[in-house]
Amino acid sequence: MREVIVNKGGPMNAVSSARLVRATSLPELRAAGCLVVHADGHSLCLFADGDQVHAVDNRCPHMGFPLHRGTVCDGILTCHWHHARFDLATGGTFDQFADELRRFPVVVEDNAVLVDVTAPEDPVKHQRRRLQDGLARNIPLVLAKAAIVLLQADSTGVEAFRAGLDFGVRRRGGGWFRGLTTLTCLMNLVPHLDPNDRAAALYHGLSDVAQDSAEQPPRFAIAPLPGKTADIARLAGWFREFVEVRDPEGAERALVSAVQSGASPTALADMLFAAATDHRYLDGGHTLDFINKALEALDIAGWERAELVLGSLPVQLARAQRMEEANSWRSPVDLVGLLERAFEDLGRAHEQGAAHQPRPELRGELVDTVLNDQAEVILEALLQALREGAHPVDLASAVTFAAATRIARFPTSNEFGDWDTALHTFTFANAVEQGLRRSPSLLLLRGVLDAAMSVHLDRFLNVPAKRLPHPEPHVDPESLLKRLPRLLDRQQQVGPARALVASYLAANGPPEWLIASLGGALLRENRNFHTIQCVEAAVRQHELLGAAPDAGIPLIAGAGYLAAHSTTTRSQRQTFEIALRLHRGEKLYEDEDVA
Ligand code: FES
Repeated sequence: MREVIVNKGGPMNAVSSARLVRATSLPELRAAGCLVVHADGHSLCLFADGDQVHAVDNRCPHMGFPLHRGTVCDGILTCHWHHARFDLATGGTFDQFADELRRFPVVVEDNAVLVDVTAPEDPVKHQRRRLQDGLARNIPLVLAKAAIVLLQADSTGVEAFRAGLDFGVRRRGGGWFRGLTTLTCLMNLVPHLDPNDRAAALYHGLSDVAQDSAEQPPRFAIAPLPGKTADIARLAGWFREFVEVRDPEGAERALVSAVQSGASPTALADMLFAAATDHRYLDGGHTLDFINKALEALDIAGWERAELVLGSLPVQLARAQRMEEANSWRSPVDLVGLLERAFEDLGRAHEQGAAHQPRPELRGELVDTVLNDQAEVILEALLQALREGAHPVDLASAVTFAAATRIARFPTSNEFGDWDTALHTFTFANAVEQGLRRSPSLLLLRGVLDAAMSVHLDRFLNVPAKRLPHPEPHVDPESLLKRLPRLLDRQQQVGPARALVASYLAANGPPEWLIASLGGALLRENRNFHTIQCVEAAVRQHELLGAAPDAGIPLIAGAGYLAAHSTTTRSQRQTFEIALRLHRGEKLYEDEDVA
């Protein structure tokens, strides 16, 4: 192997490119067969293949392996690192995990090989296309490369988010599920993250959409009814009836027809939440959480996508398990029966409460009842709070806070899987609260009572309840934050992680720094759907509690949950770091032959 250093400004010829540089002489290249040439800041690999001369970027587009170590056979260049193959004449790859090989146009004149080093195609345009390839074929490295470039071009991340959302709702036969929820949770977290972690968040979200869709048959969306055939209230009624009889196709047609007929975002949210609370705690809370996330996704991506996005919800909604079918909700106490009686009083209680002055302090009084009392007492306390003027959102906030407290006080003596049980209640309660903040409908208020019953059912997961941590006195918040990643490098650090968060907040450390650090720690690990949900809901709840003295509880809960699920192999983050190093032009492979 010979190496030739060429400077820009070699002899120019009739080709009009201003970026032609002399790379080598034809006899020299023919004698060597393959030459590495550094020209105008590029490391080029020149090949003489029969009558043809080719110049390509010497870094393999997959992971940067030097291509002069590859083999050319029958016009195909094979990189030996992961065996990606490239057509030398066009640069096109036969292996989608790699990428197109960058070629440089070549002119041979008077035995001089001249290479055109004009800048390649717009990298953003290219990565938009590659994002689609990565989603369709579930290739994490391709998605990481695309997320990095697209976030640089659009620092909000909305363009990449839209691409993932559109792909997931169009592609996945089972409709909205884990991947799209992960993507939306992480997109909600993006503004809170350190700028260096934002592309990693998008990459994790996009990658989960691709993975979740890869295992599914395709989806065939149902068109709306022809014309504007019915009023919105009637369509909403049909929608609930079709979900009731587990008919996802009928339900999808009614829902997308409502979109087509101009139903407002609030009316659409009411339709969905009504059907999601016609039965108790569907699919362990996931169904209503997915609906809430789909609505949040539309807030981010734009409601012009409503038909496409909301049309992905009825399959899961119609097929969900109803807790009327679960023994734990029926026996030894018939919680479903208690709830149905309480629902009969909801309307009247709400009307009575409307005549009173709002009493937001009722929220604090309710939390203890929800955590510690019997089911009938809890339901009556919620109804009474309504009668006394509590706003539905205050009620929901109290129940969500109680659910967060279960996690903050969760003892590690429980079975590991029990974390999920407490998490499901928390994310369900949070979704009901977000839904009520969007549209405080009486039907959705049933979800607050359901969430309260779920907190009640989880009571033995707090036996014994861990004491909330006492803050360490006289600590420097910044040094505590530096300790957090090291702490989460070890398993079983639930107690120390909770204590660190409590001490940090008590020492008046800025919450936004803590949230960014928790987000960074979350994104280091391999994706765990429930941990992502937990941290996102914890951040949201912390924000909503504002300056309340107990606003740290959700973050203590989130940090404990994250600590319980750390550490993992971190292999997914490693993929992202590889993409980042390639993007920065760093070498992953040190070639001893070519300095
Ligand atoms: S195939 Fe070339 S670096 Fe992987």
